[in-house]
Amino acid sequence: MGKINLAEGAKKVLNSNFNEDKGFTIPCEGLYPFQWHWDSGFIAIGYAHYDMNKAKREVESLLSGQWQNGFIPHIVFHNHSDTYFPGPDYHRSDLHPASPKNIKTTGITQPPVLGFVLKELYEIAEDKADILEFITRNIDKVYKNHQHFYEYRDPYNEGLVYIYHNWESGTDNSPIWDEIWQTMDPPKYKYERKDTTHVDASQRPTNREYDCYLHLLEIAKAHNYSDEKIAELSPFLVQDPLFNAILIKSTEALIDLYNIIGNQTEKVEYLQNWLDKAKVRFEEKLYHEDSDSYVYYDLRNQKHIAHTTSSSFTPLFAGIPTKEHAEKLVRRLQADFGNEDLFLCASFDPTSSHYNPKKYWRGPIWVNLNWLIFRGLKRYGYIDLANRIKTETINFIDHHGFYEYFDARKTQFETAAYGGKNFSWSAALILDLINE
Ligand code: SER
Repeated sequence: MGKINLAEGAKKVLNSNFNEDKGFTIPCEGLYPFQWHWDSGFIAIGYAHYDMNKAKREVESLLSGQWQNGFIPHIVFHNHSDTYFPGPDYHRSDLHPASPKNIKTTGITQPPVLGFVLKELYEIAEDKADILEFITRNIDKVYKNHQHFYEYRDPYNEGLVYIYHNWESGTDNSPIWDEIWQTMDPPKYKYERKDTTHVDASQRPTNREYDCYLHLLEIAKAHNYSDEKIAELSPFLVQDPLFNAILIKSTEALIDLYNIIGNQTEKVEYLQNWLDKAKVRFEEKLYHEDSDSYVYYDLRNQKHIAHTTSSSFTPLFAGIPTKEHAEKLVRRLQADFGNEDLFLCASFDPTSSHYNPKKYWRGPIWVNLNWLIFRGLKRYGYIDLANRIKTETINFIDHHGFYEYFDARKTQFETAAYGGKNFSWSAALILDLINE
């Protein structure tokens, strides 16, 4: 397609998914018809390259769904749509006293991207004074979100926070969660799935998985989304390497931004303490020697879930690994995820029997994870490998269009595009990669 057409195509996708009235962007028509938290963060980075006003609106519309206790939900329901399940009437954010009165949201969150997204906007903006004014107006809301995590999601005061739902991880049906589903016996709920009316069921989670997803929400709702009760009762409490790496990266970004703003000593010290503690603990607890990578810790069952996924490589993005761990991690990436048969980077270990190259987060390549790994490899000086993942990501989009996820097997390249079409973060991050 060439650089210009790719850029024009990406803008077209973003602009057509933008809701002018409410100032937010849907991830994908039909499949995801509301505002999603981490999607919006990545989308704002794309807009920053050609329309900073839209980037700002994207961030502010997401923040309009923030709860009074600092929590930022995974979906904000600004609009009505009946193409998605479960919608606002299922999630019932009104059960929690701190949820906003004028707007419905979910009661689960998603990887906390906003801190580093604000920093990206700052870096991309030509008018630094203008973007700094915007950041100064909004940064304390993100700070409050981080305080909420440290207060409610870190029971052992480690600097590592837990997620209580697979939808919070962003990697919904990863085989990582299979062991937890085996500990659960959810009722067979009656509901009508909408996702499989948009995308072939072979590329989406199973019904039994959906029953588990809903069961976790039912437990939380039965206790009005009380953080204390969820910590006590949820069968799903996991310290996820992607989620924590993003929190750490966002914390680092907030510190940089507060230093640029000036006179914010107290907040900088608070964040710095958490940052230092979190990085040390992440290395100690989530680096898994036998896997040569970062893995997951199941806090409910007190054990590692020792599989390697694309999330396992994202600590590079947050500057967490020591040089020695980075070296081992990159070797693992090249040997098992990037050998001559595969494009980078499968979402689940291609050498595992659980790997499924077509099914959502059980194997396919995602543009946002590739972007995070690209940035991480660059941060650690692995420039050739960084350029490889960038080129391969752009090639997928150039050849197939702005799809949601892709098959890593080189032999399948001609039919490699899956999930939603005209997917917003695929467009936004391609814009960032080609402008890089
Ligand atoms: N990604 C989820 C879904 O598929 C929700 O966040 O519905």
